[in-house]
Amino acid sequence: MYSCHLCGDPVEPVLDFGRQPLANSYLLPGEADKVWYNAVWGWCDACQMLQLVDVPDVSLVFNADYPYITDQSKFMMNHFRKTAECLEERYNLEGQKVLEIGANSGGMIEHLRRTKVIAVEPAKASQEILSRKNIPFWDTLFTEGIARTIRKEDGLFQMVYCANTLRSLVNLDNFFRGVLEVLDDKGVFVFEEPYLPEILRKNEFDQFYSENVYGFTITAIGRLAIHHGMKIIQIDELPDNHGGSIRYHLTRAENLPDARQFSFSYENRVRQQCGEMYEHALKIKDDFRQALIKCLMGTVGYGATAKSATLLNWAGIGSSLISRIYDSTPTKIGKLTPGTHIPIVDSAEFQNDSSRTVVLFPYNLKQEIIPRENAIRERKWLLYAPEVHYD
Ligand code: TYD
Repeated sequence: MYSCHLCGDPVEPVLDFGRQPLANSYLLPGEADKVWYNAVWGWCDACQMLQLVDVPDVSLVFNADYPYITDQSKFMMNHFRKTAECLEERYNLEGQKVLEIGANSGGMIEHLRRTKVIAVEPAKASQEILSRKNIPFWDTLFTEGIARTIRKEDGLFQMVYCANTLRSLVNLDNFFRGVLEVLDDKGVFVFEEPYLPEILRKNEFDQFYSENVYGFTITAIGRLAIHHGMKIIQIDELPDNHGGSIRYHLTRAENLPDARQFSFSYENRVRQQCGEMYEHALKIKDDFRQALIKCLMGTVGYGATAKSATLLNWAGIGSSLISRIYDSTPTKIGKLTPGTHIPIVDSAEFQNDSSRTVVLFPYNLKQEIIPRENAIRERKWLLYAPEVHYD
């Protein structure tokens, strides 16, 4: 019997991907996986939220060694530039102050050129890039306590922004209180998060790994906002981000109209959708394994994504089926994938690899990767989403 991290009500287990290592904990050769967790997500009816029931300590996940860098993807860089333009236009940020929490390499705030920007970011790889971009940062995870210190040093902010951060933090109440601590009374809290009904509709079961503690609905965010004396004033749909995301704009300001005119009745089906997606995931797990076994000449992978950890570990696929994975991220090259210990090799060497069949793990970036790589050498690309198929 599990209870909700937020309200304490019983939570019903609906997804189970077995024992999993931390998805972004790439290992040095010879190193052992330190942390394993039960990848079980449960549904809280009261909060209308899906949640990981056995959450690894967040400081083990987001620490100085966290390797993910947004600047590795042109798509994400483009997205954050457009986000900056859109926020500047809507809120007239000239001369204002913006705090980005979990800023990664500062891909959004670097474009707010007439705004004073400050980042909060604990990962060393990201901090090096922030320094190169001259973006000041707090080297820490964000909590209510840290927010008090930031407020003392830097004062209040007209905007607090974060992307793909909230879903990873089990103690959301503490995070919201921290945001309210540093946010001007009339300020806006803007954040982007994957939208659970879309993830489920698209069967993106591999988005379920320890960094995605919560699967949000708009109803859930609306309830959280009210709990903290805020309201949703705008919702932007971002269909191409992380399987389908929503950008929420929240405020305490009285004079802004709330977004209650939106109707979210279709969210009533979310619990049922979880079961449907799980059935689909079981099929992909079997089909993917079979497809790899049929590759008699062996195969290699491209893009050591965090989300592939869920499938590889759940299906027990290691280096006997995929001998190596090519990737351009400096912090991943030379390491092994978590749990399954597949070597990660510099993608600069990919053109010398004669493998005919290649598994494309970042299927979300296929338009960027396949034409570019096929121009160098024609390949057969094996993808596992939305179902197992060749491209
Ligand atoms: P990403 O799409 O960010 O997925 P996740 O959030 O699940 O990690 O991961 C993309 C990975 O692919 C990342 O490790 C960088 C790598 N990559 C390349 O190696 N070459 C490329 O051209 C691109 C676009 C990405």
